[in-house]
Order: sequence, then C-alpha cells, then structure tokens
Amino acid sequence: MGTAIETVRAVFGEFAAEADSLIPILQRVQARAGFISREAVREIAGAVRLTESQVYGVASFYAQFRFTPPARHGIAVCLGTACHVRGGERVMEALERDLHVTPGTSTADGRFDLDRVACLGCCALSPVIKIDANIYSSVTTMKLKGIVDDYQ
Ligand code: FES
Repeated sequence: MGTAIETVRAVFGEFAAEADSLIPILQRVQARAGFISREAVREIAGAVRLTESQVYGVASFYAQFRFTPPARHGIAVCLGTACHVRGGERVMEALERDLHVTPGTSTADGRFDLDRVACLGCCALSPVIKIDANIYSSVTTMKLKGIVDDYQ
C-alpha cells in the first residue's frame, strides 16, 4: 500500500477531480486505504477545490466513512428487532464493558472495532454478532469471552 497521497492520486485516475465526485472519491480511497487519513482529506480537498472542513463535513455525514485506521478485527453487534428483543443490547453492553470500547470506535490496542448493525439477515438465530466474516448465533454474555478470545 502506498502513501495516502499516492492512493488519492491513483483514485483521481478513475474519477474527475471535482466536488460532484466527492462521495465516490472518498469511497474509493477508503476501499484502498481502509480509512481516510488527514493527508488524504488534504489532498482531496485541494484537488476538488473545497476546504478540508467541507470535505470532513460531507464525509462525516455518512456513517460509512472512517478517519482512523481499522482495528485488526471488526465486531458487528446486530440490534435489529429480533436481536434487540432477544438480548442484543445486553451483548453490546457486555462487549463495551469487557473491551473498554464504545460503538463506532476501536479498542486502544487496535484489536477490535465495535459497531452496531441493523440486521445480519439471520434473525431466527438471534441474538447474532459478526466478527470479521464469521457469524455467531444465539450469543449470550456467558459465551462472549470464549468467542472474542479467538481473535488476537
Ligand atoms: S435482527 Fe439480528 S439478524 Fe435480523
């Protein structure tokens, strides 16, 4: 992976460097780099002739963009209706407490990102969490430690 500036310049080979293309530019930079760094925002802003705070303003409106490097593993806790009814909130609270992290942020050691999702599409198995590409069903707070210990 090159520097943030090289990544942004490569993306400008695919999109016109103009404000109308800002969202697809940000999406592509994030897909390539894993996040949108300060250097990337500065480079994008200069190219599309917006200020850095305008670029941040647009990007932070969309939950899909992140401005810090991703953790080694991503935990998504389903809080859709079925999972919510069957204990998803308790699972989320246990993760927050045990990992010292709040939804939308990463643990200080860079081990986990924690996020909430609306539905993982397997409601019959609720409550459900996903870690990286793996789905865990009928999760209880008792099972959680054994599950997360598999991810270092
Ligand atoms: S509500 Fe959780 S999988 Fe559908």
